Amino acid sequence: MTATDLPNKKFDTIPSILNLGRNENNLPEKDEISLHSLNQEYQTLYHFLSAYAPIWQHEPIASYPANLEFYPKEWIDEFNHPKKLFQLYAKTLDHHTLSSRTLTILLQETLALEQLPHYSFSSDIPDIIFSNDFLTQKKDHELSHLMKYLTESTRNNQCNTVIDVGSGHGHLGRTLASIIPLPIICLEKNEELISQGQEVAIKQGKGKVMTFVEQDLDPDLLKFSPYSPFTSLPIKGPALLIGLHTCGNLALSQILLGLHANKTLINSLINIPCCYFHLHPQLETNLCLMSQRYPIQWTPQSLTLATRAHKRQDEKEYHEMARVKEYRYTLQLFLQEELGILDFFPVGSSHKRLYRKSFSDYATIKFQDLGLPLPGGNAFQAFHERPLTRKKVHELFTMTLLRWRFGRILEKALIIDRALWIKQCGYSVEIFTLFNESISPRNIVLKCNHL
Ligand SMILES: C[S@@+](CC[C@H](N)C(=O)[O-])C[C@H]1O[C@@H](n2cnc3c(N)ncnc32)[C@H](O)[C@@H]1O
Repeated sequence: MTATDLPNKKFDTIPSILNLGRNENNLPEKDEISLHSLNQEYQTLYHFLSAYAPIWQHEPIASYPANLEFYPKEWIDEFNHPKKLFQLYAKTLDHHTLSSRTLTILLQETLALEQLPHYSFSSDIPDIIFSNDFLTQKKDHELSHLMKYLTESTRNNQCNTVIDVGSGHGHLGRTLASIIPLPIICLEKNEELISQGQEVAIKQGKGKVMTFVEQDLDPDLLKFSPYSPFTSLPIKGPALLIGLHTCGNLALSQILLGLHANKTLINSLINIPCCYFHLHPQLETNLCLMSQRYPIQWTPQSLTLATRAHKRQDEKEYHEMARVKEYRYTLQLFLQEELGILDFFPVGSSHKRLYRKSFSDYATIKFQDLGLPLPGGNAFQAFHERPLTRKKVHELFTMTLLRWRFGRILEKALIIDRALWIKQCGYSVEIFTLFNESISPRNIVLKCNHL
């Protein structure tokens, strides 16, 4: 099967992109070894993920207890101590302490497969933290690393303009404007963010170098008019097309913009994606030829898992999260077993405060919110304390933590698919992590250069 055989793909422009501005004679020389290794990496992830698909495709609570067959009892039994559960979550488990050989292999494989190279700066690049904006610790970390990276990586790359895709109100552009004398174009669909951005840029004396453009970069719109965002813009090429935390399909739009543009207009692209749960699981994944041949069977829940992968919590936050899960699972089981609501019935999230109350108080409020009649007496608390309920909740929580170990691998598979798609179009591609994952877990950078 090839890209052209896929009738429903949103990216049915791919065949034309493949040939865009190129012919047999001017095709760039491809780095076949890297293409080969990317293909191999994709296949390794594909085979691993296919073997465990029933685990990562769905949340355990959605089909419990039927799905227990995918989580061997010997795996669940390993986690009879709360400390071990935390270590499973924190990826600090000593595998020698495990009795189950299959679980040991699974956990070792997840650790090995999720590895990505981390960008290391040369020592002569100083720390650059320059912004007149008030920044959160996370944003400060992201921008200072990105500025340092741009300083280093663009040393040998000519760049006359920076185009920021999904700029928000322009933190990145304003920080850049403080250190480089280049025009910066911010593309953003949210009118309010644009006027805030313009106002701050003018206040900081950067109004002349920064241009804000209101533009919806939905890939469906780009498909019909791929050049439109740039035709009316004052771009002095070649430009760098950058997107920090391009949520959902905005990352795909950014890639399409880069692929459609001529080399003299855009010569490099830096994409840092996030919020994969906004992607359509069938139409906006499996983009390259290899993944169309070996498609990963994405579900909405697996895209959510890829999005939250690598988010580290300290032990206190972990215990709070564990309590939220305990209450939600118990309520879910109550609905199933006491009210006969067998279909998965999402109970939704609540304010932290509610989980500090007794289960009975929590369930009473949730029942009222859901418009359900309250059971009499002490039914909620008795159900919560029942040993069988506790055992089931323990199973569900262990299954959840085991499933989370697939998150980063799913995210990596999405990125490698995009990298292969770009590489097919004749670009050089690099993938690495740039931010400290405990501060900014969506830290994967896809860097592409027009060859
Ligand atoms: C996660 S925020 C990142 C903002 C900024 N890059 C940053 O890192 O601070 C994503 C931004 O992309 C914008 N966005 C999302 N989809 C878009 C689209 N289709 N076209 C243009 N902007 C979009 C959102 O309005 C939002 O401001």
